[in-house]
Amino acid sequence: MKLWLPFAASAGALLAVASFVGAGWDAPPVASEQLGFRGTGMFQHKDIETEAALKAANVVPPAPWQADPSGDKASDLYQNVQVLGHLSGDQFNQLMAAMTEWVSPEAGCNYCHNPENLASDEVYQKVVARRMIQMTQTINVDWKSHVAETGVTCYTCHRGKGVPAQVWSSSLEPKPAGNMTSNRNGQNVVAVNAGNSSLPQNALMDYLLGDKPIRVHANTALPTGVNTVGTMETEGTWSLMMHMSESLGVNCTACHNTRAFNDWDQSPPQRVTAWHGIKLARHLNVTYMEGLTPVFPANRKGPEGDVLKIGCATCHNGVQKPLYGVSMLKDYVDAVAVKGSTDVPDFSTYVPGKTEVLGGAATSVTQP
Ligand code: HEC
Ligand code: HEC
Ligand code: HEC
Ligand code: HEC
Repeated sequence: MKLWLPFAASAGALLAVASFVGAGWDAPPVASEQLGFRGTGMFQHKDIETEAALKAANVVPPAPWQADPSGDKASDLYQNVQVLGHLSGDQFNQLMAAMTEWVSPEAGCNYCHNPENLASDEVYQKVVARRMIQMTQTINVDWKSHVAETGVTCYTCHRGKGVPAQVWSSSLEPKPAGNMTSNRNGQNVVAVNAGNSSLPQNALMDYLLGDKPIRVHANTALPTGVNTVGTMETEGTWSLMMHMSESLGVNCTACHNTRAFNDWDQSPPQRVTAWHGIKLARHLNVTYMEGLTPVFPANRKGPEGDVLKIGCATCHNGVQKPLYGVSMLKDYVDAVAVKGSTDVPDFSTYVPGKTEVLGGAATSVTQP
């Protein structure tokens, strides 16, 4: 009998045991919550250690001060105010201070302003910020179907950074080798926006910028010719679903009864909210982000030259309700929970460092 065999076997067994009991190999403690009827397998599993880190990272910052709504309007006090003219001077300054904390705590006011001339639009970040104020107002006023009364502020996405941590853009597709491998359908590379899976890497372009149909499910056991979608479309849908699950830090069961992914009647109510969320993200990308393309410099665009875009993770940052559903709006009601002017200047005429007033005459302030 060969002597090395029992040795190899016992070494293998020891290694296997060590891999389960050794340091750094323990399974994380998991909390499970039942979401649906018994026997339907509807559980939400959460890694307790990750949860603690998420809780610490998702705390709402306090308002710099309580603003006094009385007194002269910003439109009378300042020269080039196009969206916030209805605020009192104190409210206006409170929002400037808050925006600085939310977007550029290190660079301060000068991230958006030439300190010699605060009225000038020459810093491109100011031009973007003005459009972002309009975008935030639109989210809070027109998209209550998704954000409810909780709403969002700049902080929901920015978290103290000029560029939000969770953005996406079209990613470079590697060239196929040819012949049978010619149609990769965007697959078999690490798809960062689909939970690092090998699903189609640019699926978000189809669903959160374009409006490609998401539904793929057949309602009959055998093909009848009615449902013409195939595996490729299904993989696209799956890629989007991976993005949605990862963004919210949830399992598929947060929105589906997995015995029938298509059936709305068996789905938790969160699925309807998510449906509005898909429309919301698409609207923000098409109406706001794409429009800003001429304003952003090349180093703020993706590898393919498109603007950085909004996905579910941009607001949610890994939790089911952004900032655990704590609303920041009460301190900024007049600033971002009402909708003022939505005028869009002609961004293609913008010259960074030169343009002093972009867009409407400084007096064209509409009262919300
Ligand atoms: C994230 C970008 C951003 C930051 C940071 C910022 N601002 Fe502003 N600021 C704007 C935008 C956008 C406007 C124009 C608002 C409008 O058109 O309604 C503006 C306008 C102003 C105006 C009016 C100037 C005029 O005469 O038209 C003043 C004053 C001002 N900001 C002061 C400040 C101060 C002080 C700080 C720092 C505490 C600051 N801002 C930080 C974006 C910013
Ligand atoms: C729904 C998410 C979202 C919200 C809400 C939001 N932003 Fe943004 N913001 C973005 C994205 C995405 C970008 C694109 C990043 C890029 O390409 O620089 C961006 C870019 C910017 C930039 C340009 C940064 C740079 O250096 O290029 C500024 C300034 C800015 N936002 C200010 C604001 C302000 C002020 C508010 C609140 C009134 C706000 N944003 C609200 C998502 C958001
Ligand atoms: C945050 C909620 C949410 C999560 C999490 C989620 N989904 Fe979905 N899913 C939806 C919504 C909303 C639709 C319907 C979209 C539409 O009809 O426009 C949908 C549609 C689908 C469809 C197509 C159904 C049809 O009618 O053809 C499939 C398949 C699917 N999801 C699978 C998954 C899988 C697999 C996961 C987990 C990886 C998942 N979903 C996670 C919300 C969610
Ligand atoms: C502009 C920011 C923003 C974007 C983008 C966004 N959400 Fe939300 N979402 C919110 C806010 C705020 C809430 C909390 C609403 C509330 O308090 O009821 C929310 C709530 C939800 C809920 C309900 C959670 C629950 O337990 O009731 C689901 C599901 C959801 N979002 C899914 C999505 C999906 C999927 C996407 C991307 C397709 C998305 N969201 C994009 C801001 C956003």
